[in-house]
Amino acid sequence: MIDELHDFDIVIVGATGDLALRKLIPALYYRCRDGQLAADGRILGASRANLDRNGYIAMLEDAGERFIPAEHREADEWRRFLARVDYTSVDAFDCESYRDLAMKLSEYPDRVRVFYLSTGSKLFAPVCRCLHELDLITPQSRVVLEKPVGEDLVSSRDINEQVLDCFDEEQVFRIDHYLGKEPVQNLMVLRFGNTMFESLWHQTYIDHIQITVAENLGVEGRAGFYDHTGALCDMVQSHLLQLLCIIAMEPPPSIDADVVRDEKLKVLRALRPLRGRDIDKYVVRGQYQAGAVNGHPVPAYVDEPGVARQSETETFVALRANIDSWRWAKVPFYLRTGKRLARQVSEIVVQFKDVPHSIFGESDISANRLTIRLQPKEEISLLLSGKRIGTGMTVRDLELNLEEDHRGVDHVPDAYERLLIDAIGGRATLFVRRDELAAAWQWIQPITERWKEKGGRPDHYVSSTWGPTAAASLLARDNREWDAGSD
Ligand code: BG6
Repeated sequence: MIDELHDFDIVIVGATGDLALRKLIPALYYRCRDGQLAADGRILGASRANLDRNGYIAMLEDAGERFIPAEHREADEWRRFLARVDYTSVDAFDCESYRDLAMKLSEYPDRVRVFYLSTGSKLFAPVCRCLHELDLITPQSRVVLEKPVGEDLVSSRDINEQVLDCFDEEQVFRIDHYLGKEPVQNLMVLRFGNTMFESLWHQTYIDHIQITVAENLGVEGRAGFYDHTGALCDMVQSHLLQLLCIIAMEPPPSIDADVVRDEKLKVLRALRPLRGRDIDKYVVRGQYQAGAVNGHPVPAYVDEPGVARQSETETFVALRANIDSWRWAKVPFYLRTGKRLARQVSEIVVQFKDVPHSIFGESDISANRLTIRLQPKEEISLLLSGKRIGTGMTVRDLELNLEEDHRGVDHVPDAYERLLIDAIGGRATLFVRRDELAAAWQWIQPITERWKEKGGRPDHYVSSTWGPTAAASLLARDNREWDAGSD
């Protein structure tokens, strides 16, 4: 289906930052190449850097070489793409400095305007205030906010309130790029495009669910942000809770933005709050130590450039969550995420219960397991039982693998490609609503408070392992273990 093309101006605030160069510019290039951007649509970079258009284009030439494979960067296409780009230097706090941008925008007052704030969330309110003061916010304008919005419930609420003094909620697009990932959307289709899963998607048949987002990279030059954020607020509060919502929500009547978001909100509100000692018991935090990745030594987190020597920031979290609802009563959700883990893998494991009674005597029958792997490769596999060939009646594991067929697909769109197109088109289903965000922070907050109150450093783990031993114990205590597929 080809969407209607909207005439647009997209203003990227923070245009010289890592996210803009690594993700947003390549994403816009691919969509331009594939004819999904209106011919006259402009991309206006804005940042503090004192550059002119040529200086910014030179920066994009370099980013193009680094982040877009040569076979996808046809010279003509790339040139046509760069022709859309302009640059203006602004100081987020000084509204006078937005005059040049205002003049450029005033050439097309009726276009869709997307202000993409690819900056730390402390700048969201001042930027919005200036856009408002200079009358740059038209009814066709939208603002895209990068995650995390704020660093706790209060700061997130404050920022949202100030943004909403300038924009209506329908104009605010809060990014969680996991929602734009192809396999995450496929997960919705798997759940709601098949009859067979829904009847089993229930505490009667499901034993527990695991969500793992493991990275083998370290903090990678982002210490300034990461050291005061940590894995809980960087990853669990957003990506992991969003995945949990999609796995756990009731079937929404449609994929309209508010209908889906209403269902996700119900899940977040039904999450059983963790308090006091339960946090000590059910939440594990870890920090990576020196080790080796592919035979090359890597430093401990506290020895990474920009990280405080005494840093207590967690680079790993594993926790047990429960959803208090009829569907999910007594079904634990185990979540884990971390940097410098043994492997780069994101997956969701739906572990079904054992057969109630085995008629096959001594044979061990594995319980069914549905594994939805999001990264590095999109795969879905279903563990079933089958008969071992022979005269006896021995049961064996049978793995049904559904690998996405990428033949003929030269490029799978990155999450940001889809999200940018949706933001331009005004489709908000894959963006987080204010109340969802508040509910997620509300659930996370007692954990951060408990850690602050107790102090102490996170458990250590050696780089390239699966995190502190306490993470394994979290499941072992419940007679379970993390999915072997990620070992
Ligand atoms: C970001 C986090 O939101 O997601 C990073 O800030 C993390 O710390 C990244 O590395 C992971 O995203 P992806 O798409 O590479 O799994």
